[in-house]
Amino acid sequence: MNKRILTGITTTGTPHIGNYLGAIKPGLDLAKENEESFFFLADYHSLIKTQDAKKIQSSVTEVALAWLSSGLDVNKSFFYRQSDIKEIPELSWILSCITSKGLMNRAHAYKAVISNKGDADKGISMGLFSYPILMAADILIFNSTHVPVGHDQLQHLEMTRDIAIRFNHLFGPVFKIPEAIVQAKGSTVPGLDGRKMSKSYNNIIPLLSDEKTLKKSISRIITNSLEPGDPKDPNNCSLYKLYTSFSTKEQQLEFENEYAEGISWGDAKKKLFVLMNDKLSPIREKYFELQKNKNFVNDLLDMGAKKVKPISNEMLEKIREFVGIHNIR
Ligand code: TRP
Repeated sequence: MNKRILTGITTTGTPHIGNYLGAIKPGLDLAKENEESFFFLADYHSLIKTQDAKKIQSSVTEVALAWLSSGLDVNKSFFYRQSDIKEIPELSWILSCITSKGLMNRAHAYKAVISNKGDADKGISMGLFSYPILMAADILIFNSTHVPVGHDQLQHLEMTRDIAIRFNHLFGPVFKIPEAIVQAKGSTVPGLDGRKMSKSYNNIIPLLSDEKTLKKSISRIITNSLEPGDPKDPNNCSLYKLYTSFSTKEQQLEFENEYAEGISWGDAKKKLFVLMNDKLSPIREKYFELQKNKNFVNDLLDMGAKKVKPISNEMLEKIREFVGIHNIR
């Protein structure tokens, strides 16, 4: 069976090293091995999280530039904005009508916001509540077979499968049932404070920064208070963990030895900076170049939309036919 890979990034905030290592790089690696890969900017998803129009706008630009600077080849992959594909919200409505409220009640993203005291509905928009349905529409409109996602998105993939199975059961065999591709559990990228790198924890290292900003971010990584000369433990050390994400086995062994020999935290940070700067500088250069030509990026996204539209259009026609929304016969 031909694999059809699909993944999206919600356009809230500046793309960071966690997005790069957790979504962009694995997505691009999979794209190399597979015939068809779909990467998109989940801009309608971002409306769930913020009503700051400027923030959404700049995040769309940054996330698009992050994909392109990291090596996405628009001739080999499909690359588009969710909001350009009108069939997605349309399918989202159709799926909403066959999805039970009970299934959505169980969604982690929504449950995390429910306040325990007083009004349980406080701060919950209908967008947040039904967010897994929009995500299911993203995936099912292209009959994707494999979806690379982080652990936090696994439940949404399960829900997508449930929704697709229910639809097929009610109306006939329309959707392929997609599978999640999840990274190994230990591979979560740590942020500056050791927790998962995330915009909401304010602990990110930006992907598209200049050298100075990268150095400054790395200097803010929290370490323990061991002195230079004290042997240090690379386990449970976010600095070391970040180092492993960009290095070879030999480099890691060498760094482990230096830990044992008592490298100072200052020197360890310098070493991480040199490594990351080396790996990120080609991405950065491309980013600065693309940034000067936003029209070009818009053109690429327009072209991407034109490329996927025949697929989503045909799929939606088929779906409408199955549910009985078609011309009078
Ligand atoms: N919800 C995902 C996130 O926040 C982004 C996303 C939206 C997505 N639609 C998708 C990921 C479809 C994979 C497939 O990370």
